[in-house]
Amino acid sequence: MTSLDAGKIKSYLQHDFCVEVIDEVTSTNLVLKGLAEKNAVEGAMLVANNQTNGRGRLDRQFFSPKDAGVYFSFVVKPTGDICDMLTIIAALSVYTTIKKYSTKSIGIKWVNDIYADNKKCAGVLAEGSRNIDNSTLKYAIVGIGVNIYEPPAGYPEDIKNIATSILTNGQNVEDIHNKIVAEIINTFFDLYHNFDKQSILLKYKQSMFILGKKIVVCNNQQETIATAVDIDNDGRLIVQFEDESIHHLNSGDVRLKI
Ligand code: BTN
Repeated sequence: MTSLDAGKIKSYLQHDFCVEVIDEVTSTNLVLKGLAEKNAVEGAMLVANNQTNGRGRLDRQFFSPKDAGVYFSFVVKPTGDICDMLTIIAALSVYTTIKKYSTKSIGIKWVNDIYADNKKCAGVLAEGSRNIDNSTLKYAIVGIGVNIYEPPAGYPEDIKNIATSILTNGQNVEDIHNKIVAEIINTFFDLYHNFDKQSILLKYKQSMFILGKKIVVCNNQQETIATAVDIDNDGRLIVQFEDESIHHLNSGDVRLKI
């Protein structure tokens, strides 16, 4: 049984944010979006012990079983350059926090996935809502899911070879669920309030494990082999295809080539 608790999360938080903990929810992103439409303030958070319809990028499901992980979302209302950096800041915050607790080799897979020993252990889904008149960002919901323990019944067949948890079997960290949530939020808002694009991009780049490696670029159901070369000033992935052409990717998916 997990000990997710709003009071404990708040005791670890460096900000006086509104924290709501719920046992089961469809998707914390989805529910918080409804609250943001009704004017939820920056920092308002929803944390769940399990999601029945956890969602990821590119319309994928995010497996969110009870007690095994934490699934949470929070509201931000950024302006300017930072609007396009939310996924990168969140992924970096997850990476930095997880590294403190995991004995596994942790790395970011561009753009929003965090890996432990070459399998996915966490993901970020940032979704924005824009004003119709000037297309500025009204608010964004940043959603984060972290697999803390292996689920007792294991992972479903379709992800069992690509999913993992941050802790190893038998490893126990006191109050880990509450600490992980609070520390990710603290790290995120530190980077967000002291926004320094170049420094964030540099740290993000140093946390990636695909640079210099052969990858498969998946776009519109087409798969192409390339080398991951670098990150550009907008957080796009610079790749070199086998015909030597260089491209800056701002969407799509990549995976390491085995
Ligand atoms: C991905 O794998 O592409 C991103 C996964 C993001 C999952 C988190 S869990 C909390 C929040 N609610 C959701 O439905 N998704 C995000």
